[in-house]
Amino acid sequence: MALFGAALLTGCQQAQQSLSIGDMASAFNREIWVMSIWAIALSVIIFIGVSFALFYTVQKFREDKHDAPPAQFHGNNKLEVWLVAVPVVIVIFLSVLTVRSMAILNPTPDQATKIDVLAKQFWWNFTYPETTADAGGKVANGNELLMPTRQPVALTVTSGDVIHGFWAPNIGGQRAAMPAVQKTWQVDTDRAGVYQGNCSQLCGASHANMRYKVVALEQERYNTVLAAMKAYRAPEPAAGSAEARGLQLFLQGKPETGAASCAGCHRVQGTSAAGQVGPDLSFFGTRRTLGAGMWESEKAQEMLIPWLKHAPRVKPGALMPTYDGSEYMSKGKMLKGGTLTDAEISDIAAYLRSLKLPEEADYWRDVP
Ligand code: CUA
Repeated sequence: MALFGAALLTGCQQAQQSLSIGDMASAFNREIWVMSIWAIALSVIIFIGVSFALFYTVQKFREDKHDAPPAQFHGNNKLEVWLVAVPVVIVIFLSVLTVRSMAILNPTPDQATKIDVLAKQFWWNFTYPETTADAGGKVANGNELLMPTRQPVALTVTSGDVIHGFWAPNIGGQRAAMPAVQKTWQVDTDRAGVYQGNCSQLCGASHANMRYKVVALEQERYNTVLAAMKAYRAPEPAAGSAEARGLQLFLQGKPETGAASCAGCHRVQGTSAAGQVGPDLSFFGTRRTLGAGMWESEKAQEMLIPWLKHAPRVKPGALMPTYDGSEYMSKGKMLKGGTLTDAEISDIAAYLRSLKLPEEADYWRDVP
């Protein structure tokens, strides 16, 4: 029964997180949808017209219907004027529509909530530049983007390596994430919910595994969550607990077996871990996805240990080293990871799971 319920729930979630641009959750998307409909409708009309003319001509001038070759002539001014005028009118019409939509969709994002989007092979980091954590540094979250609904949000998109594409189809508007280029544009959502985001630019081995979630919350709820994120400090584990051993390994690794520290690459707010090479793990225990949206919910829980043991084997191209001593391919080179015991891996997992926002700030709580 529970299994059936879970399956049903998963079904609902998938239904809600459709990847159709026709499932519109923003004014932005509505504009694009209207333009698509016009472009498709005009194309269909032209296609029918051209097909009809073609079949008519072929039928009418069949060789076996005529004894002599038909009249030979060169040029037809009337027809040529029409052939130029009609496409020009169509192009002008579509241009006016496009320019109008562009003006609506690209206002100066002064009043908007600002969120910085960083794309890297093969994950996302979302930083809230207007919110400095009490423990220092800007509030940030890996792979799960929170935004307030029914108000403008200015996303500034960039890349830390190759070109990626930021695209949440229900919200609309793909944006290229390019290294050394910061592109800002304004989006809004008109209903709270979870929307699926994907990388839309072929970027390497795990392009297809470079996903994210957009969690759009009602303004009040968003404020509560962001305030909790600002005040958040990673918990101090009790001495001797699995979490405490996990924290120790997280910060220092195990140099004698070649196991690199996690802190060299990842940030955890309120600890000395301030790495910027990988996604921010400050609220890892609250997150529902793992491996940049590769797994969700129970599956994400289940995959955490294999992930920590050998991330590049479960996600091709992942730049995280292995921790079970196995070899892995990184940027075209064969490397060998450090070694942690199963117990040590599970201590790190316990520590990561303890990195949780307070219950009332769990942004997944009200999500269907
Ligand atoms: Cu990043 Cu495709």
